[in-house]
Amino acid sequence: MTFNIVSNSEQETLELGMDFAKILEPGDIIALDGDLGAGKTVFTRGFSQEMGVTSHVCSPTFTIVNEYLGGRLPVYHFDTYRLEGPDDFLDSGLDEYFYNEGICIIEWSSIIDELLPENTIHLEIRGVGDKRNIEISFDENSFNSDKLSKITSICEKRG
Ligand SMILES: Nc1ncnc2c1ncn2[C@@H]1O[C@H](COP(=O)(O)OP(=O)(O)OP(=O)(O)O)[C@@H](O)[C@H]1O
Ligand SMILES: [Mg+2]
Repeated sequence: MTFNIVSNSEQETLELGMDFAKILEPGDIIALDGDLGAGKTVFTRGFSQEMGVTSHVCSPTFTIVNEYLGGRLPVYHFDTYRLEGPDDFLDSGLDEYFYNEGICIIEWSSIIDELLPENTIHLEIRGVGDKRNIEISFDENSFNSDKLSKITSICEKRG
C-alpha cells in the first residue's frame, strides 16, 4: 500500500512522527529516506518525544545507532549514511536490533534495503522550502487488520 501525504512545516512532520509513536509496537520498523535536510531526524524527534524519550534526538551519523531508552518502548535510531553497504551493517551485528523489543527507525535505509524485514514502514521525504511530499509505503500483509487500519488512518488524515 502506498499513500502520498504533504507536510507544510517542521511541526507537521514532528506530528506525523508522534502519530506513528502512538500506534507502533515492539518489533516495528520505520525506514526513512530522502536527501540531506529532508526531515528524517525531525520525524524521529517527534516519534521519540511522543514515546516519552527525554534525551535530545540527533542523527547518529558516527555511531550508526543511538538507543533512546526510558520511554514507553526503546527507540533505536539508525543513520546508515556512512556505511558502504549491507555487509557493513551485518558485520557489526546491527540486524539483531530488528528482532528486539523496541522500535527501529532508520535514516538512509535504502543503503540496507535488502536487509529490511517485511513489516517495515517506508517513508520517502522529498521537497524544498517548508513543504515536503512524503510517500508512505508498506506491505499490508505484514500487519493485522487493527494495526493496518491505524496506519491507514494516519495516512488518510493527512492525504
Ligand atoms: N515540512 C518540513 N518537515 C521537516 N523538516 C522541515 C520542514 N520544513 C523545513 N524543515 C527543516 O528541514 C530540516 C530537516 O532537518 P533534518 O535534520 O530532520 O534532516 P535529515 O533528513 O535528518 O537530514 P540528514 O540526512 O542530514 O540527517 C530542519 O532544519 C527543518 O527545520
Ligand atoms: Mg538526520
